[in-house]
Amino acid sequence: MSQKISKVVFPVAGMGTRFLPATKAVPKEMLPVFSKPLIQWSVEEATAAGITEFIFVTSPEKPSIISHFQSSPAYEAMLKERNKTDELELLKAGLPDNAKITEVSQDKPLGLGHAIWCAKEVVGNEPFAVILPDDMVLHTTGCLKQMVETYEKTGGNLVAVENVPADQTFRYGILDPETDDGQIVKIRGMVEKPAPEDAPSDLAIIGRYILDPMIMVTLDKGKKGAGGEIQITDAMADLIGTCPLHGLRFKGTRYDCGNKAGFLAANIAYAALDPELVDGLQEQIRTIFK
Ligand code: G1P
Repeated sequence: MSQKISKVVFPVAGMGTRFLPATKAVPKEMLPVFSKPLIQWSVEEATAAGITEFIFVTSPEKPSIISHFQSSPAYEAMLKERNKTDELELLKAGLPDNAKITEVSQDKPLGLGHAIWCAKEVVGNEPFAVILPDDMVLHTTGCLKQMVETYEKTGGNLVAVENVPADQTFRYGILDPETDDGQIVKIRGMVEKPAPEDAPSDLAIIGRYILDPMIMVTLDKGKKGAGGEIQITDAMADLIGTCPLHGLRFKGTRYDCGNKAGFLAANIAYAALDPELVDGLQEQIRTIFK
């Protein structure tokens, strides 16, 4: 039987240079997507999947991410005094009541594998989830909850996957499928960011992982891969013989908030869920593009 997933790692130490100057003083993860900071959507997705321990791998330059999830006594006192119960609820920022928050520092930008490895001591000897907040997935059942349910069947390492246009493989970890039932894909190999002519398929890893703690032992080696960085893709590939790897074709629409068009599309898609906004929003968008 697979172990329960109660910890999530958020690798959020990156500098967000694509969004400068907006990200000079405000971390990219704190930019709002519709009504909430990008990172809060990820935290809510993790909460909905039953996660109780939230591990932020961050940089000392970005203190506001942790501040957003810590208690805010002055704010709480003021809202209590004014009897503002709804607003008090909003101060929880999507965390469950029993949440434990841990901050780990990544001092050098050595890659996603390195960022995850920085959480080694906190993760300990249990399987854990990783969410890359840039990838937002919109669906009534959150992507991580779908993965946790699938993990109960597969165990091992599990990644969220999506078919991408063949000329976009250089942006993703690309999988070499062994079997594929349309939903769960058994994977026999993987390449990080291959040129289209070198890609084993068009099936890409999206920013959700459930990882076996053995991954930390592989990451200990500090092996550098694509772009001279320590890649989580390589560590999962190295483990395939010992620890099976599966991909889940999740349900939902993914928005890549790591680029401006995806970020704006996510804002519109999430705003369109608000019944009070949808008509006016549609009207304004039509006017802009007419
Ligand atoms: C990372 C991973 C890549 C994955 C992608 C998903 O790349 O290295 O394998 O496909 O996230 O968003 P990054 O986007 O950080 O360059």
